Amino acid sequence: MSVNQVMVIGAGQMGAGIAQVFAQSGLKVKLNDMNEEALNKGITGIEKRLQRVVDKGKLTADEQAKANELLSGTTDLNDASDCDLVIEAVVENMDVKTKVFQSLDEITPAHAILASNTSSLPITEIAAVTKRPSQVIGMHFMNPVPVMKLVEIIRAIQTSDETYQVIEEMTKKLNKAPVEVNDLPGFAANRILMPMINEAIFAVHEGVASVEDVDTVMKLGMNHPMGPLTLADFIGLDTCLYIMEVLHDGFGDSKYRPCPLLRQYVKAGWLGKKSGRGFYSYE
Ligand code: 3HC
Repeated sequence: MSVNQVMVIGAGQMGAGIAQVFAQSGLKVKLNDMNEEALNKGITGIEKRLQRVVDKGKLTADEQAKANELLSGTTDLNDASDCDLVIEAVVENMDVKTKVFQSLDEITPAHAILASNTSSLPITEIAAVTKRPSQVIGMHFMNPVPVMKLVEIIRAIQTSDETYQVIEEMTKKLNKAPVEVNDLPGFAANRILMPMINEAIFAVHEGVASVEDVDTVMKLGMNHPMGPLTLADFIGLDTCLYIMEVLHDGFGDSKYRPCPLLRQYVKAGWLGKKSGRGFYSYE
């Protein structure tokens, strides 16, 4: 099966990043969002980032023009009717995602593969609401998408080998590194990353060290590009809490209990970079 036309659903940070990577890799991609303002923001953001890459001399003006040409925006989900691959990157809410997948199942051609960029919701459950469960798969990109090399490819229990192979090939075409994982809570990336972030928050909560010092330990001691609390602010504290809850509920193991301080910050609306305050201030 060849993939000629792609659609990305959701023009937020992840969706726009994914669409950019497809366009830069020479694939026709439609970015979809129900909200026109969000869509325009997503498209403008991609155009600006492409310009920045050109300014740095890492993309030619011709390549930039080609990427812009391959990218289009739409608020109409029915425009997925000619797509071979659709990647959903909407809000992390199972009801919303299942509705999107049910609609896509009706709209897209029978051969199309439907992928989700979910960071932690079960692909098996999403696949089960469609009439093509063997063609449903997870493609978990990392933030910031244009920079991070990894894509976790999550096989639902129903995913066929053929679907997996098409997506693995596609990931390599995007110049990303695929890693095959099974559909268990948090997959691999967040199962490892989030308990580390949660433990860093416990260290602050229990007075082991300050926010800055916990970050310094991991940056200078382990060569992490960002300390865990800076990274938590970057990801969003609400997202971190949500994923810890998925791990806690999914495994029923107390080692995944979210730190009370994380809950408190989320209740206060201190969600990290996006809200102007988290473990650090971004005023
Ligand atoms: N979008 C596009 N490009 C970006 C970017 C963004 N948001 N942020 C930074 N970049 C680019 C810069 O333009 C620069 O490009 P260049 O090398 O071509 O000049 C390059 O990334 C490095 O940026 P900077 O020099 O400004 O800053 P750093 O060297 O500190 O790198 C970083 C920034 C790449 C974000 C680095 O700090 C890092 O790797 N942090 C860790 C990120 C991480 O762990 N991500 C995974 C999060 S978990 C996740 O996504 C899973 C989810 O389910 C929760």
